[in-house]
Amino acid sequence: MATNRTFTMIKPDAVEKGHTGAILEKITSSGFKIVAMKMTQMNLRDASRFYAVHKERPFFGELVTFMTRGPIVAAVLEKENAVEDFRTLIGSTNPAQAAEGTIRKLYAASVGENAIHGSDSDENAGIESQFHFAGRDIY
Ligand code: RTP
Ligand code: MG
Repeated sequence: MATNRTFTMIKPDAVEKGHTGAILEKITSSGFKIVAMKMTQMNLRDASRFYAVHKERPFFGELVTFMTRGPIVAAVLEKENAVEDFRTLIGSTNPAQAAEGTIRKLYAASVGENAIHGSDSDENAGIESQFHFAGRDIY
């Protein structure tokens, strides 16, 4: 499996606030190439499948409600060392702990509503890319 691609979603909070353009600019100016991209809205079934790994966590209900409340922008990104470098670019899950200049520091309001997703492994980057871009030869 490729190690130079990752998957991202600009989450409903950031899309609602009009930060999509600024976030995409930050991503591309940080050296990531956009390989595939779409604006879409997940339903409860999609979000529950996407975040199935968290289904026993106390915040699961809040998470799927949040992720389905409005449009997201899903994208596959390419760069050397993509997964790790993109996690660095987005910053800590909790924006209060995110480093200066990271996307979550700049645009996230809280640990629940934290503006952006980034895959946490090459394996999950592949699974998540296929989830949103099934059948396309992009991962
Ligand atoms: P993501 O998967 O969205 O990139 O975020 P992450 O790896 O930094 O964090 P993860 O542990 O995978 O959690 C997934 C998402 O669940 C929400 N969350 N809420 N209320 C809470 O305590 C809480 N904890 C996590 C966040 O939206 C987080 O990004
Ligand atoms: Mg995660």
